[in-house]
Amino acid sequence: MFSAATYVARRAELCRRIGNGVILIPGNWEAPYNYPNNAYHFRQDGTFIYYFGLTLPQFFGVIDCQSGEATIFGDDVTVDDIIWMGPQPTVAQLSAQVGVTKSYPLSALAGYVDSLKKSGTQIHYLPPYRGQTTLLLCSLLGKTPEELHRDKSIELMFAVAGMREVKSAEEIEAMERAFHIGYAMHTTAMKMCRAGVVEREIAGAIEGVALSYGGGISFTSIVSQHGETLHNHNYDGVLENGKLLLVDAGGESTENYCSDHTRTYPVSGKFTERQRDIYNIVLAAHQQSPANMKAGAMYMEDVHRKALVILAEGLKGVGLINGSAEDAVAAGAMYLFMPHGLSHGMGIDVHDCEAIGERSYDFSAIVERAAQEATCVHRATWRLRAGTVMSNEPGIYFIPALIDKSRAEGLYRGIVNYDKLDSYRDFGGIRIEDDVIVTESGGVVIGGDKKIPVTVEELEAVVGK
Ligand code: GLY
Repeated sequence: MFSAATYVARRAELCRRIGNGVILIPGNWEAPYNYPNNAYHFRQDGTFIYYFGLTLPQFFGVIDCQSGEATIFGDDVTVDDIIWMGPQPTVAQLSAQVGVTKSYPLSALAGYVDSLKKSGTQIHYLPPYRGQTTLLLCSLLGKTPEELHRDKSIELMFAVAGMREVKSAEEIEAMERAFHIGYAMHTTAMKMCRAGVVEREIAGAIEGVALSYGGGISFTSIVSQHGETLHNHNYDGVLENGKLLLVDAGGESTENYCSDHTRTYPVSGKFTERQRDIYNIVLAAHQQSPANMKAGAMYMEDVHRKALVILAEGLKGVGLINGSAEDAVAAGAMYLFMPHGLSHGMGIDVHDCEAIGERSYDFSAIVERAAQEATCVHRATWRLRAGTVMSNEPGIYFIPALIDKSRAEGLYRGIVNYDKLDSYRDFGGIRIEDDVIVTESGGVVIGGDKKIPVTVEELEAVVGK
């Protein structure tokens, strides 16, 4: 947690941006695994962490934009709770740690929201992404889930995303600590990588590393010889010489800031010529993209598209694409090789702020506003700001089902060399990823001089050693 002054200043700035009404910021509740007292690992909501700092479950934050006053609703533990959890600070004590002087039990929340409704006060809230939060807000506001989404505060979505996407110096320091956790995770995986090891042994070891250095993993680790499956969470594979292992994993600092890195390397410790050729194409995009991550750049055109052109040039060089790289990108042919974005926001969350807008099911309602504001609430219209942290994760994947579908539909005819592509069907996939801070003059890769091995030579020197 940062000092109380950080949270006080963030709430004041949010009030200034919203101007009127009351802002509801629900924290997360426990999510039961099989019965209420056996819950999944608890992760606090990112926006609640940003404005209220507390990482325990079942708190609800309120900010009154007229008075500037903040309130936390939450329950003090009872003796019954203490038997199971041990003694805990009171809600008032916890609130004071984040500069909040007013706190009430959760039982007072419904009455408080009722009084807002009766007085006609404007109530702002973000679109919820968890069922429990949807139920709570629906019950407090007297809305159906559809009405809840319809009436979400677009002002609040843009204000919160606009603030969260630009990181302060103390946030960047926390992200550097998250990088060091990611570094330890990835170098551990590299050293363990050899034929006969089961993917889950590596997944388990690096998750242990993440917990031993900080707050645990920042998302479910991907440790797979099937790198062509973008989010492959199966760990059953036994490592085989000749295959590539893709590890996409990151850690969370104790302040809840995240890292996200991917490395791909040969199980044998030595790239084949074909693996090296494709690897170096992805590496070229990975190394050149940070220069495009300048304040003012438009993400899709200036960053994502330029990376696709570098990849297309490389694929042309190995004979998988005919004609010009620009034409291949313009025709959409790179979707066949990299069917995902080059970047997403990073911060308190991996895919920072995407819960606010990008994945909202009535997304079209925010598109017009997103184009004007150009915050990370909508990646297609995202204009980069100095201090934004984003992933840089080019990849090339050979996905047999996608190749077959494109070929059967006659897509990219004359551009993609399908006959040659057939010989890559069992290649797998390569992704290389680090986290980058946007500055006025280009991106700076988090980690400074320390970098997770990434070139062919660096990887061959460490994998399996
Ligand atoms: N590295 C995980 C993701 O980008 O979703």
